[in-house]
Amino acid sequence: MTTIRQVYKEALSPAYGLEEMTVRMLLQTVNHFSSMTELLSKMDEPMKGLEEYQRLFARVLSGEPIQYVLKKAAFYGIDLFVDRRVLIPRPETEELVDRIIHDFKKKTYPKVIVDIGTGSGCIAFALEKHFGESHILAVDSSTEALEVANINKQQLSSNVEFLQGDLLTPLIHQGVRVDILVSNPPYIQNREEVEANVLNYEPHSALFAPNGIDHYRSMISKAFLVMNDGGTMCFEINYDQEEPLKKILEEFLPNSSYQFLKDMQGKTRFLFVTYLKDSRSTL
Ligand SMILES: C[S@@+](CC[C@H](N)C(=O)[O-])C[C@H]1O[C@@H](n2cnc3c(N)ncnc32)[C@H](O)[C@@H]1O
Repeated sequence: MTTIRQVYKEALSPAYGLEEMTVRMLLQTVNHFSSMTELLSKMDEPMKGLEEYQRLFARVLSGEPIQYVLKKAAFYGIDLFVDRRVLIPRPETEELVDRIIHDFKKKTYPKVIVDIGTGSGCIAFALEKHFGESHILAVDSSTEALEVANINKQQLSSNVEFLQGDLLTPLIHQGVRVDILVSNPPYIQNREEVEANVLNYEPHSALFAPNGIDHYRSMISKAFLVMNDGGTMCFEINYDQEEPLKKILEEFLPNSSYQFLKDMQGKTRFLFVTYLKDSRSTL
């Protein structure tokens, strides 16, 4: 009889270089345990699903991210379905959501929230949990990403409204006015910045923007068409984009106030803009 512990020890051999959490997630899944605690309390039981385990283990060893192998990712306390059609949600993006939730607890309840470049829908679903009375819309240009977002919508019995299109365009067409706009758009310019397993497995349309800042420029320049006066735009950005983004803000939103914020790694990672209508935004 092969026990779970034997498989676990073998998988953690330094030759494989795998993280403990990755191996635990695999073992929990193939043994159909509901929690990590259950796995740890049953380590001396016979290993179930050994064949399935070996298949999945080989994929992990080849560099495929564990979230794609298991078709699930945890985000801000929510279990999401993910596959290669969408970006795997990142911890920095959980930080973005956390900041929004804490900032807006103290302010007027937002009537309309939009998430631009929604991917799996992670930001929209996490915000829905905390702003259940708001109308939440989420946009993506990718049909494939929206297929995944809709799988999650069903699984979570969510009311988020998903729209297909380019950035703010679907909102402009529908005349939507927004209190909180959140976006984690593609923002990487140089492929060299990206690790091999990300480059090989995650959708490039979710990662790269030719000039890095293109999508922010587009959204900031059209903010007057969708934002309510006093509304907030919350962006995840790359660590080196503060200066070019300041220029864009000065060009298009000279009256609005803004703040660049660091993530837990100490890198500049978020931009919050309080949108104030100016004389040029009366269209
Ligand atoms: C960095 S991913 C973010 C996904 C998800 N919001 C998250 O934080 O994990 C960017 C997303 O923007 C979408 N996207 C790229 N270009 C777009 C565009 N022009 N208009 C709308 N969505 C776009 C991609 O398909 C991708 O799902």
